[in-house]
Amino acid sequence: MADEAFVTLATNDTYVKGALVLGSSLRKHHTTRKLCVLITPQVSGNMRKVLDKVFDDVRVVDVLDSEDSARLALMERPELGITLTKLHCWTLTEYTKCVFMDADTLVLANIDDLFKREELSAAPDPGWPDCFNSGVFVYKPSIVTYNDLLDLAKQKGSFDGGDQGLLNAFFCSWPTADIHKHLPFVYNLSSVSIYSYVPAFKAFGGNAKVVHFLGKKKPWNYTYDIKTQTVKGEAQDQFHPEFLQLWWHIYTSRILPLLTECGVVKDVAVGLKAEAVTEAVSQISIVAAAAPPPPPQISSEERRERWEQGQVDYMGADSYENIKKKLDSYLQ
Ligand code: UDP
Ligand code: GLC
Ligand code: MN
Repeated sequence: MADEAFVTLATNDTYVKGALVLGSSLRKHHTTRKLCVLITPQVSGNMRKVLDKVFDDVRVVDVLDSEDSARLALMERPELGITLTKLHCWTLTEYTKCVFMDADTLVLANIDDLFKREELSAAPDPGWPDCFNSGVFVYKPSIVTYNDLLDLAKQKGSFDGGDQGLLNAFFCSWPTADIHKHLPFVYNLSSVSIYSYVPAFKAFGGNAKVVHFLGKKKPWNYTYDIKTQTVKGEAQDQFHPEFLQLWWHIYTSRILPLLTECGVVKDVAVGLKAEAVTEAVSQISIVAAAAPPPPPQISSEERRERWEQGQVDYMGADSYENIKKKLDSYLQ
């Protein structure tokens, strides 16, 4: 089993948050497999320290997109181009089999049974079910496959500008050849499908094993109130709220403590743009204002604005100790 791994990818500190929640959810459901994360040099040093606490294997790879030395001149959607970095997962040849999972997925049950499947197994894409969705797939690391994928990228590009188009072109027999390579949809349940076929979600959603927060808006883009432990406002419009709620619960209970433990305030600020922290900072300003000598009175709103502009009072109200205390009190 030590030669099998779950693999994810994060090219920046924002996606690292997703990767950490995913890794933590796999641990929570007692996976017996290794956890590996591919990161690019853009990921900050402190975030890497946190990744080390959750993952067995933190691997730095170079960015694969149109600017890469591999000369992949195929990006029509530059924001998705960087997902070609995912191809590096085929280079992890010390593992005999892997399950790749997007950093915006969340595990709800033990899914180690996926390792019984062969390359390339994946669930249908909710938008075009003759394509597989590349947010969750079973594969076999191989340098030969990696090079063949790069060759195809160079010659023909990817029809969606990202990894999914390329992988579907490469593993083109997936829709018709072998039903065992079709993962049940509950291994990659996306928000889109919940709303496009509500009765099916009602009937089968209880068996969901992996939720995929597919689309532009990710869980970390929402606002969370740590005190009431609820995702604020518009969440209900966007996604089945309990999944979003669960993501945030894992984030605040398992990941935030690691972030405060490993980081300096500055890094927490960078890594956590969530309201959770800006609110904690606002609260701290009130506490600090009571202590002599009184610091200049500024409103919570003003403090938050300053924080967001990067003007952080590291030595005073926004000190690491104060932030940690505040978060600890919320988490208790
Ligand atoms: N990703 C990343 N950095 C980015 C964009 C994407 O690391 O700037 C990785 C991450 O693992 C992410 C995956 O590529 O989950 C696919 O992108 P995303 O999940 O945003 O696409 P979607 O599933 O929404 O189409
Ligand atoms: C899809 C997949 C994602 C992939 C992207 C770009 O929406 O969910 O994993 O990276 O397309 O191809
Ligand atoms: Mn995704």
